Order: sequence, then structure tokens, then C-alpha cells
Amino acid sequence: MSTQKKIRIGVVGTGGIARDHMKHYVTFDDVEIVGACDIAPGKARAFLDKYDLPNVPAFNSVAELIKNVEMDGASVCTYNTTHAECAVALLEAGIHVLCEKPMSFTLQGAVDMVRASRKSGKFLTIGFQPRYSFMRRKVDAIIESGALGKIYYVQSGGGRRRGIPFGTFVDKEKAGYGCLGDIGCYAIDECLHAIRYPKPLTVSAIATNHFGTNPKYYLGADKFDVDDFSVALVRLEGDVTFVFKDSWAMHADTLGDTLWLGTEGAIKLTSGKKEHNMPSRVMYFTDINGQHIDSVVWPNIPMDGYLCDVELERPIDMWFGKMRGFVDAVISNGPAPVPGEEILFNQAICDGIYRSSKLKKEVEIDIPAI
Ligand SMILES: NC(=O)c1ccc[n+]([C@@H]2O[C@H](COP(=O)([O-])OP(=O)(O)OC[C@H]3O[C@@H](n4cnc5c(N)ncnc54)[C@H](O)[C@@H]3O)[C@@H](O)[C@H]2O)c1
Repeated sequence: MSTQKKIRIGVVGTGGIARDHMKHYVTFDDVEIVGACDIAPGKARAFLDKYDLPNVPAFNSVAELIKNVEMDGASVCTYNTTHAECAVALLEAGIHVLCEKPMSFTLQGAVDMVRASRKSGKFLTIGFQPRYSFMRRKVDAIIESGALGKIYYVQSGGGRRRGIPFGTFVDKEKAGYGCLGDIGCYAIDECLHAIRYPKPLTVSAIATNHFGTNPKYYLGADKFDVDDFSVALVRLEGDVTFVFKDSWAMHADTLGDTLWLGTEGAIKLTSGKKEHNMPSRVMYFTDINGQHIDSVVWPNIPMDGYLCDVELERPIDMWFGKMRGFVDAVISNGPAPVPGEEILFNQAICDGIYRSSKLKKEVEIDIPAI
């Protein structure tokens, strides 16, 4: 970590997740918070004051922040439907961006973000902190070794038995999606990053909301109009099948385990069977001379512990990994730890799931040229 120069960071949107970004920024010696903005009047000022930063300026829009403050990088912590406009404005102004997940709520928004990044030469990284989890890194390393042979099938697992949130997460105008934008995009990233994100070709999907709309299960049922469950069959380039499922609420403990099936072996991330259903261990399966071999990958550190193994000499939480990864990338002027270009395919799948569900048929995924 360089301590020569402080990098100047701005925060756009000062709600819930911005507090988590700040929790880490304020502990970094090489970071200076230089400004913040929020469209809710007074919110950015109150936010900065909470961190004892009375001299750091606060604004009511990203445009004012950009106009008045010199920044090297910025966190976009607004709700989903304003990610694209804020990220594009920052990138066009020559500022590196860490944008919260999901990347956007439309494929076009995500395309605009990647185009702005390419044009300005500034990087765009997406806030998928599970990339830094210990178990994810184990899975990625085994797959990277080639031990599974040709991977032909991937399946997401987990899901919540009861876990429909409140606030902007269920407000369609602000979130764009429901469960898909909250936890579904993580599951897509988990499954596809491990196999280097093959291009999605077609999607056949159904998204429903039987629980969120039922007052028996959800207090805000009268206004609920986003998805709380979805399932999809996605064809990926290279003859890979991806079966996706996610749930904010259901009458079961899990939608199953996460699986990568290959011609020489398989990996299973077992479902944690808890209310929020984080994976609990990595298993590897193969066959030696006709003998079925089932192994647990050690050390077994459940994701619930949020430990990660980023070549730092101590276990740290994955949110720290995300924030430190961003700051280090700003210092080195890239590359992006979780590149927008890669997450474009994640966004294309989310987009395809909504389109297919609405049209009640399989849809093609057509990603505009960048
Ligand atoms: N990585 C994670 O673990 C994680 C956890 C929670 C939320 N998130 C993501 O973070 C984002 C924000 O979620 P939240 O829970 O903090 O929401 P929130 O509603 O608490 O905060 C969002 C803030 O952004 C502000 N805002 C909206 N549009 C703006 C704009 N154009 N310019 C400036 N400010 C604007 C809102 O006024 C609000 O204060 C969402 O995209 C969500 O998916 C990520």
C-alpha cells in the first residue's frame, strides 16, 4: 500500500451502504474524503458531520460535486435506478468509479457506463464484495486449475426463506428490480465469474412475487410490485447451461446448492440453510479409476464469517477487501478489481430475466457494441 500521496475520494448518495464505504475510507491513511452529495436536501451534510468532517463540502447533486471538487475516485452509493447517470457523469469528468451493485437496472444503462469508462480511460468497478470471500477464492482457484475438465452446467443455490427487505430495495422506481437486484445479481456473479463469464445468448425465465404481495407474509404488501423469486434457464457461449434461482421468501430452507459440473469433476458450494442462506462449505467430486471421490476443501471457512484471503497476511472481512481493492486500483490507475465490462453480462442476464418473464417466452440477449 502506497502512503506517498492521499487520493481524493467523493461519495455520491449518502444512505445505508455509503456508511459502510465510509467506515473503511476513514481508516485508510492514504485516503482523503473531499466531498459528498445526495439529492435529499441536507443529507450529505449530516453524513459528513457524522464523520467529523465539517469542512468537507456537501452538495445536492453529482453535477455540483464534480464542478466544485477535484476527485481521483468516487463511490456511487445511490439507489439502482440512478447508478448509470451518476457513474457516467463521474467517468466523463475523469474520475475512477466504484459503483454499488447491481450495475444498473437496464442493459442500456450498463452499456452507457462501460462506454463512458472506455472513452475517459478511467475504470469502473462494481461493488461485489463476495469476490473477496475465502470460499469464492477456493472455488475460483480449483476451476482455474482445469481439474473439472470442460464445465457444461452451472447452477445457483441458496435463497432466503424469509428475507424481504424494506425501503428503497422494494421501491420499483428506485430499485428497478426486487430480489434480482438485491441478491440475484450476486448469485450470477458467483456462478459466472468462476468460469470467466461466458457470453449469455438466450434466457427463459419466470419472476414472481407471491410473498411480497401477501399481507400474511409482508407488511408492505399493498405497494409491493417487484420480484421476490425468479428462476431462469440461460444458454451461455461455449455450450454451457446456467440454471439460476433466487428467492427473498419461500416455504423451504433452500433452493439448493451451487454447482459447477465438468467432464472431469464437479464443485458444490453447499447451502448454509440459514435464514439468509450463505454457503457453508466447498466440496470437490471426481472419479479415479472408477472410484467416486468426494472431498471437502480445507480450510473450511464459511462465508457467514466474511473472511477473505486477499494476499494480505491476516484474515479480513470482504467489505474491507472491496474498499481497499478500489483504493489500491485508484492509486495504480487501474485495472478495475471487478470490471464493468465483465458485469455487463451479469446485467444482460438480469435484463433478459425480466424481459423473458414479461413476454412469457425465451428471449435472445443482444448486447450493443461498446
Ligand atoms: N454491496 C452491498 O452489500 C450492498 C448493501 C446494501 C445496498 N447496496 C446497494 O447500494 C445502493 C444503495 O442502497 P442503500 O441501501 O444505501 O439505499 P439508500 O436509499 O439508503 O441510499 C441511497 C441514497 O442515494 C441518494 N440518491 C439517489 N439518487 C441520487 C443521485 N442521483 N444523486 C445523489 N444522491 C442520490 C438517495 O437520496 C439516498 O440517500 C443500492 O444500489 C444497493 O443495491 C449494496
